[in-house]
Amino acid sequence: HTNQSWGGRFSEPTDAFVEQFTASVNFDRRLYHHDIRGSIAHATMLARVDVLTLDERDAIIQGLSEVEREIETGEFPWSVALEDVHMNIEARLTEKIGITGKKLHTGRSRNDQVATDIRLYLRDEIDAIDAEIARLRRALIELADAEAETIMPGFTHLQTAQPVTFGHHLLAWQEMVARDHQRLRDCRKRVNVMPLGAAALAGTTYPIDRHVSAELLGFERPAENSLDAVSDRDFAIEFTAFASLLLMHLSRMSEELVLWTSAQFAFIELPDRFCTGSSIMPQKKNPDVPELVRGKTGRVYGHLMSLLTLMKSQPLAYNKDNQEDKEPLFDTLDTVKGCLRAFADMIPSIEAKADNMFDAARRGFSTATDLADYLVRKGVAFRDAHEIVGQSVAYGLEQGKDLSEMSLDELKRFSTSIEDDVFAVLTLEGSVAARNHIGATAPDQVRAAAQRARDALAAL
Ligand code: ARG
Repeated sequence: HTNQSWGGRFSEPTDAFVEQFTASVNFDRRLYHHDIRGSIAHATMLARVDVLTLDERDAIIQGLSEVEREIETGEFPWSVALEDVHMNIEARLTEKIGITGKKLHTGRSRNDQVATDIRLYLRDEIDAIDAEIARLRRALIELADAEAETIMPGFTHLQTAQPVTFGHHLLAWQEMVARDHQRLRDCRKRVNVMPLGAAALAGTTYPIDRHVSAELLGFERPAENSLDAVSDRDFAIEFTAFASLLLMHLSRMSEELVLWTSAQFAFIELPDRFCTGSSIMPQKKNPDVPELVRGKTGRVYGHLMSLLTLMKSQPLAYNKDNQEDKEPLFDTLDTVKGCLRAFADMIPSIEAKADNMFDAARRGFSTATDLADYLVRKGVAFRDAHEIVGQSVAYGLEQGKDLSEMSLDELKRFSTSIEDDVFAVLTLEGSVAARNHIGATAPDQVRAAAQRARDALAAL
């Protein structure tokens, strides 16, 4: 036999390349803390049901905490020959405490062990991400409240459409992220189910108590079916789908931030600390942070596709394919955390250039709809009002004048229903203030919406 922990039935050592090829320790070692936590709970449960003695349990727990200390101080002798994080830790435990270390794996398989580790690890990461999303939402809400009266052009087709308030635009971003937040919370419920006790695939002959281990590990409940418990990775796909939607939203915000910092828009300024320069063009200040977030969206979409394809057509129960779940999931976590941190730090530092936004909204006939609505109030049918205003816009384009810059006589050429009360509706302030119902852009509505968003976040 060979000296591998599973080497009893083997008559020759593993091929050197195969050993490297099948090993996962170089990337799954980041599960060490949760692997040890799971092992401590397993040993505690085994002692509770008299499969281990209390002394054996204590030796295992003591040994595992020494192993964890070694890992954290960098003294731990990681070995590729020992394949993965689980066998590295178990082998080191046995070196330290002797034969008792060999009893830890009683009633357990690496199949239920690894599925448990990933869920424990992901649950902690979800909680950290949850806090970062809340921080981003708070930043958006506070900036929106501060910019409730700042007027900018609203766009459709990226053409000037109607004036909106900057606060209203920021609260649109907040809504997108709030839905992602809900999706994350929902995903956590399905992550928080315990595979441990499923053993290799069928359960175990020992009198284990899975409710005890679940309680010790803070899981909502033991997984219902052992075959499903060791093979399910849809919780990881679901998390990556959440991450893809979040990054899709952050990429949209990034795109707007990049546009708005350009000289042609000049709607906002990002502080120097979030930008970088050019090695050749001395004048440059580039919005690298939003650009990178926009770019990183692609790798997360890629990981979602990897995981979906990894699981496609896999027969029950565990297959080694599943070792490939970790790198896409880990990189998704790192990417999401980095992007959220960048955004939550950057949003409060955005400086709105209110005068530029206002001037841009004055160009492009953004109050044309207001003029049409005015004519409707004077008794003109909407379709006729649309035609009348279209003609006045054509005239304005010819003369180089905005609607609000035309005299009453000029306006009257297009409709005798226009009177001198028209100018109140043609101003940008009048236009946004008139959209004064729930969900609309009026400053009062933005402030009320910001308060509701604050309350909803506090109630989570
Ligand atoms: N390193 C393996 C993984 O990540 C652990 C489970 C291995 N189980 C097995 N039967 N070979 O999936």
